[in-house]
Amino acid sequence: MKSLVKITFLIGYVVLFASCQDKRKPNYQFFPNMYESVGYETYSEVNGVPYGDYVSRMEAQAPVDGTIKRGWQPFEYANDSLGTAMAKVNLKSPIMPTPENLAKGKELYNIYCSVCHGSKGDGQGNLVKREKFLGVPKYNDSSRAITQGSIYHTIYYGKNAMGSHAGQLNEMERWQVTLYVEDLKNKLK
Ligand code: HEC
Repeated sequence: MKSLVKITFLIGYVVLFASCQDKRKPNYQFFPNMYESVGYETYSEVNGVPYGDYVSRMEAQAPVDGTIKRGWQPFEYANDSLGTAMAKVNLKSPIMPTPENLAKGKELYNIYCSVCHGSKGDGQGNLVKREKFLGVPKYNDSSRAITQGSIYHTIYYGKNAMGSHAGQLNEMERWQVTLYVEDLKNKLK
């Protein structure tokens, strides 16, 4: 009697499990999106991404109006003659020329500026010596009378043949380089 019960249960189990198993079809997948995520292409259209007050159909979104990137500071001096003149007179470094700041400034200067301006700031960088780039001034050029503000403005926007370095150097680094350039200028004879 006992073995009959056992056999019945055994057959029952086998039937129960076998009935779920069908090798011709894949098994059930719970939450299939977790295994196969929806692959949106960048810049492709998608339906119903909520954005602000309206529903846009583009996946890549512009930042929300009136917001800025974390850590980004607007630069209030424009890239025109008035902005240049204002920066030259009014803009002062928010950091001090400590040995650490000057050391960091020197390191960055030698990476980004010395090819043209020379490691001493005398306008004799390698590109100038090899006549690849001309018109690079000395930092103590009296007709320019550069200041902290004008150096920073030049790094930020560039000047004529010199390109902007705002993309390579962040705000802190720009000031460190500025202080180092001022130091070079004071050491030039
Ligand atoms: C590709 C060469 C080149 C590089 C690299 C370069 N400069 Fe210049 N720089 C110039 C030239 C050319 C001028 C002269 C622009 C003019 O007045 O027409 C100049 C001018 C300047 C001036 C004088 C601006 C004024 O008020 O008259 C400063 C300060 C200066 N550069 C700083 C830097 C610093 C700092 C870096 C590195 C972050 C740098 N430059 C990188 C070519 C370069």
